[in-house]
Amino acid sequence: MACLYHVPEGPAGAPIQDVNMSVNQHHLSNFQVTQDAIKSFANATDPRMAEVMGLLVKHLHAFVAESHLTKAEWLKGLAFLTAAAQITTDERNEFSLLSDIMGISSMVDVVSQPPGGTPSSVLGPFHNLDSHVKPNGCDLTQGQAGERVWLKGRVLDVHHQPIANAQIDFWQNADNGLYPAQDAEQDPQNLRCKINCNANGEFNLLTIRPHPYTVPTDGPVGALLAASNRNIWRPAHFHIIVSAPGYVGLVTELFPAGSDYLDDDTVFGVRPGLIVDVQQCHDAEVAKRFGLTTPFKEVSFDFCLVNASSV
Ligand SMILES: [Fe+2]
Repeated sequence: MACLYHVPEGPAGAPIQDVNMSVNQHHLSNFQVTQDAIKSFANATDPRMAEVMGLLVKHLHAFVAESHLTKAEWLKGLAFLTAAAQITTDERNEFSLLSDIMGISSMVDVVSQPPGGTPSSVLGPFHNLDSHVKPNGCDLTQGQAGERVWLKGRVLDVHHQPIANAQIDFWQNADNGLYPAQDAEQDPQNLRCKINCNANGEFNLLTIRPHPYTVPTDGPVGALLAASNRNIWRPAHFHIIVSAPGYVGLVTELFPAGSDYLDDDTVFGVRPGLIVDVQQCHDAEVAKRFGLTTPFKEVSFDFCLVNASSV
């Protein structure tokens, strides 16, 4: 049977028979530790928890064995997690950021995505549960700087039929690249809203073109990114959550084509199906309503939700 675990070398000059005995003992010991640790979670009240924790232990033990992790490296890892805990607050979660830059958040998106719908993408740290409901067709710009963008679309089912009573939860960063949580000059409700779509699943709003921004780099995750010589930027994006009764909710992002970092998003959130063209719009009625000059910029995107009964 192949040895799955790293086996320390025997002491120099030790008799061959002694080294072989040492090898065998270490093999059994490693295997037994893993099995015992997995088994220790088997009686969890929640069977799903038992399954997930068992798999987590299995793969973490395999990582320790395959990487030949030293005690010094293990202690360094514990110090990293301690630093992440110390900088985490209600407003800033370093573990969420760690999940993002490790690609874990995107992996959860990918494996939990029901087939047939619009691709999901990362939630990010700036979603606000308390965004106000505003009228369909509202103006979020309110005189602030930024290139105006008419964002419109529909919410459809997998058969491309409109979904009535869908809701859009929208948020993005301002022209300075910052979200309200990062910028005391911004109203907490700036460039964010909820919109109830009409009976045809249609929504639209006037906003500004979003900008690329860096993830927070003043904590241990920032130090990890620097030590890894990694990009710290995200491409420009609109955040959107789409929900409707009877359908699987969708957390996603739209990425204007041509933005920097589309091919190197530090949180791995870009999906080809979420890159949107920024087009020229000649709609005179919209221009008149918002005091725009034609042509102005428009982004149009239809979201597709999966029926909850099909998953
Ligand atoms: Fe964002």
